[in-house]
Amino acid sequence: MKYDLEFLENYWMPFTSNREFKADPRLVVRGEGMYMYSHDGERILDGSSGLFCCAAGHSRLEIAEAVYAQLKEAAYVPPFQLSQPLAFELARRLSQMTPTGLDHIFFVNSGSESVDTAMKIAYAYHYSRGEGQCQRFVSRERAYHGVNMAGVSLSGMIKNRQAFGPGIPGVVHMRHTWLPENRFVRGQPDTGIELADDLERVAMNYGPDTIAACIVEPIAGSTGCLVPPKGYLERLREICDVHGILLIFDEVICGFGRLGAPFGAQAFGVIPDVMTMAKALTNAAQPMGAVAVSDKVHSTILEAAPEGAVEFFHGYTYSAHPAACAAGLATMDLFEKEDLVARAEALSPYFLDQVFALSDLEIITDIRGYGLFAGFDISAEGGAGVRGFDFQKRLYRNGLHIKMTGDAGLLAPPLIAEPKHIDRMCEILRQTLMEY
Ligand SMILES: Cc1ncc(COP(=O)(O)O)c(C=O)c1O
Repeated sequence: MKYDLEFLENYWMPFTSNREFKADPRLVVRGEGMYMYSHDGERILDGSSGLFCCAAGHSRLEIAEAVYAQLKEAAYVPPFQLSQPLAFELARRLSQMTPTGLDHIFFVNSGSESVDTAMKIAYAYHYSRGEGQCQRFVSRERAYHGVNMAGVSLSGMIKNRQAFGPGIPGVVHMRHTWLPENRFVRGQPDTGIELADDLERVAMNYGPDTIAACIVEPIAGSTGCLVPPKGYLERLREICDVHGILLIFDEVICGFGRLGAPFGAQAFGVIPDVMTMAKALTNAAQPMGAVAVSDKVHSTILEAAPEGAVEFFHGYTYSAHPAACAAGLATMDLFEKEDLVARAEALSPYFLDQVFALSDLEIITDIRGYGLFAGFDISAEGGAGVRGFDFQKRLYRNGLHIKMTGDAGLLAPPLIAEPKHIDRMCEILRQTLMEY
């Protein structure tokens, strides 16, 4: 097939420089395990699990077969006032992975939808207990909570907000947790816990009884893997408890073993009231997200509704889609059978050793990492993100895919990675960086 400008014309690509891409297309035609295969016959090692989602590796047959079988049996079942067994089964299996007490699962179709859903759950929770004035959300600079309008309002990355109006009212941002003195710190930095007191300041500025929830990613992901300082998440939890503010963890990247534990909540030992997730939930074989909710939040909303009435006026045509549930269950099986969380935990020290060994390169100005997740910054040239984009393209040509955000590189290999894959990834990174 000829991938010329005419062929490429009609598809408006997301988060892409369309004009540049169409002049120099990079198409993937096949995936298998740790690799993707390009339209021009090259094998590309995947250093970012696609977009942090193919945790069990690319194109797992077990998932494909489960989805195909389900599509033949019941390709669609309306999810309102009707359902299908796989939804209940997946919720049950998922609740075994989420922290104890976060056992009620609401299904959606993406991470962005999980964030909007979590916000609506927070509004509904306070409304149900007669505190409907709790309408503010506290988020963080450098946060990424998806691209729907509510999530954009929470986000703290300028390009994702600038062109899109003021967002929903009542969102306040705390400072991000990147500190210059914590450059090249592996794991959680010792300093920076006081940044959590921003939440207390916001509460004292606006009134704690006006705040619905504080939402953070356990590790700020898309912005460059910002690992929280020691004690930071614990402090947020304490402040939330004092003021009756819900704590929401956006686990869309951190979940499903990425941090060497089922979720960031368990990795850091801090349990939120609500947790969003997506991506690796189906190993990215089907679009799906979910929100896990505590007993307290769930029962408050359910019990406030009259007997027989709908309790939560929210849901999507494709909530708990049968094919996505089948993919989710097959993914849960792979996580169990292949012990993927433990595998990530075991590989983490080696992974971090190799990634931090890149710190001798002058072009690298910082490295951060935890579990099987790391971020590094390269010195900008020609404007923010220009070199980052060029670097990403060179990596691809040199046989490695990683996610770049501006001049930050994000490393999050599939949890099935072996030391040889980590070695190769770091080799290509080094060689490519040395081209500058
Ligand atoms: C923390 C976080 N929340 C939400 C999202 C949005 O997920 P999606 O792209 O599936 O809508 C992402 C995507 O990267 C994310 O990293």
